[in-house]
Amino acid sequence: MKLNHNFQNLEQSYLFVTIAQKVNAYTAAHPDNHLIRMGIGDVTLPLAPVVIEAMHKATDEMARKETFRGYSPDSNGYPFLREAIAGYYQGFGVDVQASEVFVGDGAKSDVGNIVDIFDSANTILVPDPVYPVYVDTNIMAGRKIVYADANKGNGFLPMPKEGHKVDVIYLCSPNNPTGAVYNKEQLTAWVDYALDQGAVILFDAAYECFVNPGLPRSIFEIPGAEKCAIEFGSLSKTAGFTGMRCGYTVIKPQLEADGVQAAALWQRRQGSKFNGVNYVTQRAAEAVFSKEGQKQIQENIAYYKRNAQVMVQAMKDMGLWYTGGENSPYVWFQCPEGKSGWEYFDYLLNEKEIVGTPGEGFGKNGAGCMRLSAFGDAQKTVEAMERLKGR
Ligand code: MLT
Repeated sequence: MKLNHNFQNLEQSYLFVTIAQKVNAYTAAHPDNHLIRMGIGDVTLPLAPVVIEAMHKATDEMARKETFRGYSPDSNGYPFLREAIAGYYQGFGVDVQASEVFVGDGAKSDVGNIVDIFDSANTILVPDPVYPVYVDTNIMAGRKIVYADANKGNGFLPMPKEGHKVDVIYLCSPNNPTGAVYNKEQLTAWVDYALDQGAVILFDAAYECFVNPGLPRSIFEIPGAEKCAIEFGSLSKTAGFTGMRCGYTVIKPQLEADGVQAAALWQRRQGSKFNGVNYVTQRAAEAVFSKEGQKQIQENIAYYKRNAQVMVQAMKDMGLWYTGGENSPYVWFQCPEGKSGWEYFDYLLNEKEIVGTPGEGFGKNGAGCMRLSAFGDAQKTVEAMERLKGR
């Protein structure tokens, strides 16, 4: 037997696992710590009341023989949820049909698993810095990766490069980790480029709910995207589902290569390797997209956005270069005094008892930067910024 040698090309451990280990070591050595966690983007507010109600109801259905559900009819999601998600898109003017929505257990899994439907000889373009899952999953599959440099010069929003021949393009907007967001013209340039190259854009829209009006929330707002894009959505940050696990992938029938629809391959892949998200969670997700659900989740999103504003103000007060925070729950900034991200991470952990995420963890262009998450408690966010300013 031979193991997949491509794994040897991965970092020793997944970024957030490494950070958790460092934080655990600190808390073990300092049991009476006052750590404020702004590292991994994990939500802290409870689920919306309508979501809880839907879960109770679905659980009761599971308790009765007449309404009990075993396997879901297929792995793509119950029709009620696929329709609710399509309705959500239509609500902001994007034509998505229920048949184009595939429910999954979160954007991380779908983004990671989608690589199965692409040829191993494809060249992959990822921005640097980037959400590590895009890179790791392609390294595991032994694919060639090229990087699009994101840096202060381009506001951490790289644009297509002439002469770059690529097949699969990863974009994330609002971006994780930098919080930067593409406008319509910029996304149009990417769509035109993908169409010209015969490439596909894998568009991670996990943070779309943080986008302010006037900026695109979906790649399908861009004409032509139906022929060259796959979109990944998530309820994790939108509705506090990081632990619940539910997301969706949208693939239009027009996306095809050599006469084969990408959607057909994705369905085939999911049919073999996935049995669908559990019924209770799908009912909970359906409630998110109800009128009341949308109202309730907006309150939580507004809470996190206020945290982001507090963080942005602190960056301004400290005179640090930053991006994000406006259309995003992340603030990405240049570490003071020329410190590397990891040096600053250690300093923040040990001296300020704040957990951040060092830019280096997201790629070489993240060097000297730090990401802070706005998903924490409001009071703790204020306190963390006071600690930071007292450097
Ligand atoms: C992050 O902190 O980048 C995210 O929470 C990780 C994830 O969504 O998997």
